Amino acid sequence: FEGAPLAGRHVLVTAGPTHEPIDPVRYIANRSSGKQGFAIAAAAAAAGARVTLVAGPVDLDTPPGVTRIDVQTARDMAGAVRAHLPADIAIMAAAVADWRARDAVDRKMKKGDSGPPALQLEENPDILATLGASADRPALLIGFAAETNDVVENARAKRERKRADWIIANDVSGGVGQSVMGGADNTIHLVTAGGVEDWPQMPKEEVAMKLVERIAAELEVANGE
Ligand code: C5P
Repeated sequence: FEGAPLAGRHVLVTAGPTHEPIDPVRYIANRSSGKQGFAIAAAAAAAGARVTLVAGPVDLDTPPGVTRIDVQTARDMAGAVRAHLPADIAIMAAAVADWRARDAVDRKMKKGDSGPPALQLEENPDILATLGASADRPALLIGFAAETNDVVENARAKRERKRADWIIANDVSGGVGQSVMGGADNTIHLVTAGGVEDWPQMPKEEVAMKLVERIAAELEVANGE
């Protein structure tokens, strides 16, 4: 990036899935690879920002110049985000598990004669919505919306409900192995207060670069430049 457009800014990024334990060897998770969030952290660092990346369990290298905090569960992720505020810009790219096992146990569950155990779930904290409503709300708060249907409509509703400035909506339909989740490319719709921008399909690294450019332009406007 020419002229380090995000110099002096703190950018907080979440990425990857979370793992919610059932017992010491089993967990609830999802297909997030963390690629898009890591690419955004890399691009923000390349643009001169101080970047904190709160990462769920993923198999990715830490981008150069990025401070990485590894977490397992949604509650750990929420705590790490809180601990690293304030931030000028927060980009919540993690696919946080919506539910955790209510009665996680610390001994491995055994197959017995009482049949399969019934898994009771309870809701995890919503990190993005919590940030949106907090006194520490970053000036630019960006969330993701992975949807399989009514992509833009759901993203618009999510933007308002979670008090985010922007929602990056992507279609994750396509089935196991065909999906955006884990893939190299992404096709996004940027939902802002002003409307919707449809971006063509491109590699996740390019989505990240374009997003950082878009953020830099937004900050310039905000600064009246
Ligand atoms: O409601 P949904 O999970 O689709 O919202 C997705 C957005 O909200 C993403 O930006 C995700 O990182 C964030 N989120 C969160 N904490 C949760 C669930 C979602 O920060 N518990």
